Amino acid sequence: MMDLKSQINIEKLPRHIAIIMDGNGRWAKQHGKPRVFGHRNGVTAVRETTEAAAELGVEYLTLYAFSTENWNRPKLEVNALMRLLVETLNKEVETLNKNDIRLQAIGDIRKLPERTYQALQQGIERTKDNSRMTLVLALNYSSKWEIMEASRRLAQQVQAGELSPADINEQVFSNALNTSGMPDPELLIRTSGENRISNFLLWQIAYAELYFSPVFWPDFRKEHFYQAIIDFQHRERRFGKISEQLVQ
Ligand code: FPP
Repeated sequence: MMDLKSQINIEKLPRHIAIIMDGNGRWAKQHGKPRVFGHRNGVTAVRETTEAAAELGVEYLTLYAFSTENWNRPKLEVNALMRLLVETLNKEVETLNKNDIRLQAIGDIRKLPERTYQALQQGIERTKDNSRMTLVLALNYSSKWEIMEASRRLAQQVQAGELSPADINEQVFSNALNTSGMPDPELLIRTSGENRISNFLLWQIAYAELYFSPVFWPDFRKEHFYQAIIDFQHRERRFGKISEQLVQ
């Protein structure tokens, strides 16, 4: 097999890659195991992808770990996922520090179970000075919620006389989102063959390239990640212009 990593142009790396990790349940079913077994094995893919992104020099990696809609799953599965998060966060903070990776979160994290919230806050606090890459976990996240919250915040500022409606522009609105300060993802990957966005970063992916992989998340490895980046680099990103207007 051709070495995929060497085919990546490091000069043209996406600064921010976002991933919808999907297919844990189907992967488990394929193996005749309960769904939780899929989530446990999904952690290996999280580790692989994080390492691959950091090694390449990606600045931001955002992983959709739990959506606002996921609360509707069987209680047993939700509880197991929350426990898995605590366990993984506690275990991996040291790895993050060793690799100079900063942890951040987006979503309504205050509504997570107390133990999950605490583990997350601790992870964020203990890695806050790291600077090689930022790993962003989307937890109890939904894009519509985020956009509504931002709107509410801006409306409050207007009401308080701190902001004029005429001054609301793209930059002001972006800064009111959870992702304030982060570059928009240039590449969005979804695994497991589903071709949907599922309420993830709707504002931020306005110009992102979308890459759909048939691989179930627990099987996702560095090679699959490299393939997505190579694919991204072969696309022409026009941002509404025509080919001839693009400077190479
Ligand atoms: C989607 O597969 C996966 C999730 C909802 C959870 C993802 C969480 C992990 C991989 C563990 C998180 C750990 C860290 C530290 C981020 P699915 O259950 O929707 O699969 P299905 O579509 O086949 O049912």
